[in-house]
Amino acid sequence: MKKILIVNASKRRNGNSYAMEKRFGELFDGKADVKVLRLGESAVNACLACDACKRKTTPNCIQKDDFTALIPEIDSCDGMLILSPVYWDQFPAQLKAFLDRTYSFMDFTQPDFSMAGRKNKKIAGFFFAGFGPADVYTSMAETNLKNFAVAGFTDVKAHVTGNVNAPASAMDDENALKAAEETAQWLLA
Ligand SMILES: Cc1cc2nc3c(=O)[nH]c(=O)nc-3n(C[C@H](O)[C@H](O)[C@H](O)COP(=O)(O)O)c2cc1C
Repeated sequence: MKKILIVNASKRRNGNSYAMEKRFGELFDGKADVKVLRLGESAVNACLACDACKRKTTPNCIQKDDFTALIPEIDSCDGMLILSPVYWDQFPAQLKAFLDRTYSFMDFTQPDFSMAGRKNKKIAGFFFAGFGPADVYTSMAETNLKNFAVAGFTDVKAHVTGNVNAPASAMDDENALKAAEETAQWLLA
């Protein structure tokens, strides 16, 4: 059974990311071993850029928080799904902090700069925006998600649902529900 790690980057508990987390839970039910990290309920500190991780040969971090605790799951999972709002045309701060912390997987001595135990893994980003433009946000999401390659996630898929400012309104969007099914299938394949 595939191991899927879901990272929910929203703090809005009645919002779109939380509603879609539930939907993905249904889509993965019985088909994947799912673990969820909710950044709104977790402590993921900013990267210290101390380079302590560069003195090691396996992914690690000297900070003691929910990111460091999750490093083995990030490294051993088959795929990652990020559910997130768009804030000011970008990743929200809490997701950017999560991305920054994957610096702990970086190894400058390797041709691909990665000390991840497993590589060529899939990462899907499923984003929600109050307005748009969804096409511009999709490019933004893909560009940022490509940075997760350092943690072994080289196969990127991004979807942005625009015009969903109201909490959980993405659940009324047929295209979003269809994209969720396709994204789940892609991660399970
Ligand atoms: C601080 C902040 C910044 C936002 N910036 C944008 C933005 O740049 N573009 C946009 O379309 N929506 C923006 N929004 C709206 C959210 O993207 C939208 O409400 C989204 O559905 C929230 O997702 P969630 O319900 O999963 O938290 C912003 C909301 C907040 C609170």
